[in-house]
Amino acid sequence: MARITASVYTSHIPAIGAALDLGKTQEPYWQPVFKGYEVSKTWMQHNKPDVIFLVYNDHATAFDLDFIPTFAIGTAASYAPADEGWGPRPVPTVIGHPELSAHIAHSVIQQDFDLTIVNKMPVDHGLTVPLSLMCGQPPANNFAWPCPVIPFAVNVVQYPVPSGGRCFALGQAIRRAVESFDEDLNVHIWGTGGMSHQLQGPRAGLINKAFDNAFLDQLIADPAAAARIPHIDYVREAGSEGIELVMWLIARGAMADVAGGKPPRVAHRFYHVPASNTAVGHLILENT
Ligand code: DHB
Ligand code: FE
Repeated sequence: MARITASVYTSHIPAIGAALDLGKTQEPYWQPVFKGYEVSKTWMQHNKPDVIFLVYNDHATAFDLDFIPTFAIGTAASYAPADEGWGPRPVPTVIGHPELSAHIAHSVIQQDFDLTIVNKMPVDHGLTVPLSLMCGQPPANNFAWPCPVIPFAVNVVQYPVPSGGRCFALGQAIRRAVESFDEDLNVHIWGTGGMSHQLQGPRAGLINKAFDNAFLDQLIADPAAAARIPHIDYVREAGSEGIELVMWLIARGAMADVAGGKPPRVAHRFYHVPASNTAVGHLILENT
C-alpha cells in the first residue's frame, strides 16, 4: 500500500528560479535564501520519495481566463516546463505517475471532490521552483528530478478561490486515496506558494511577518484552526497573493495526525524576508 510519509511547504517565488538559472545563488541578496534550503536538500537525499504529490497554482500559464478549474489533477506521463514569457526554465521535464494519478482522481472524485482531469499541463514556477529548491539545480543536461511528480493545480489566482476548510478536507481525501493504492510507494505531499505578498495596487510589497509566523505555528500545532481562517483574512493580513497559503492546508490535511495518528515531527522550519516581493516560508513535517 502507498503511504504519505512527509509533507513539505515552501514559497515558489519565480525570481528564485531566475537566481538559480543565472548562477546568482551566492550573491549577498540571495545567499540567505538558499542557505535556508541546504538542510532541505540533504533531507531530500536521505528521505527520497517514490512519488511527489505537488500542490501548486498555475499562474495563467496552462490555464488562461478561458478555463479556470478550481482543483486540477495532472494525469499525464510527463509535463514540460512552461514558457512564462522568458522561455521555459532550463530544468528537466517533469515525469508523471499516470497510474497513481488516475487512482487518486477516481478515489477523490468518489469522495465528492469534483476534480478536473488534465492530460496536458505545462508547469510553471509554481511547480518548478519548489522542485529546484528541494532537489537542487541541474548540474548537467542529463540531470533528472529524483522521482515522478503528480501536479495538482489549485485556482488561487481568479476569484472565487476555494476556502481553507475545503482545501484541508481535500487533503484528507487525498490521504485516503493514496492509502488505497495497492503498491508500496513512499509518497510526499507538498503545499507551495505563499507566504505574505501582494504584487499589485497601493499595498504592493506588503509583508506581514507576524501573520506568517503565527500561520506556521498554527499549521504545525492546530491545522484544523488554521483551516478556519476565512479567505478575507488572508487577503487583509497576507496580501492578495497571500491567499496562495490555502494550498498548504491540502498538504497538511493529508498528514497522519489529522486522521487520528501521532503529531508530525518538524524536520525543518525556515523563514526569511525579503525575496523578490515575498516572504519565504518553508517547513518539512514527517509522519512519525
Ligand atoms: C512573485 C511571487 C509569486 O508568488 C508569483 O507567483 C510571482 C511573483 C514575486 O515575489 O515577485
Ligand atoms: Fe505565485
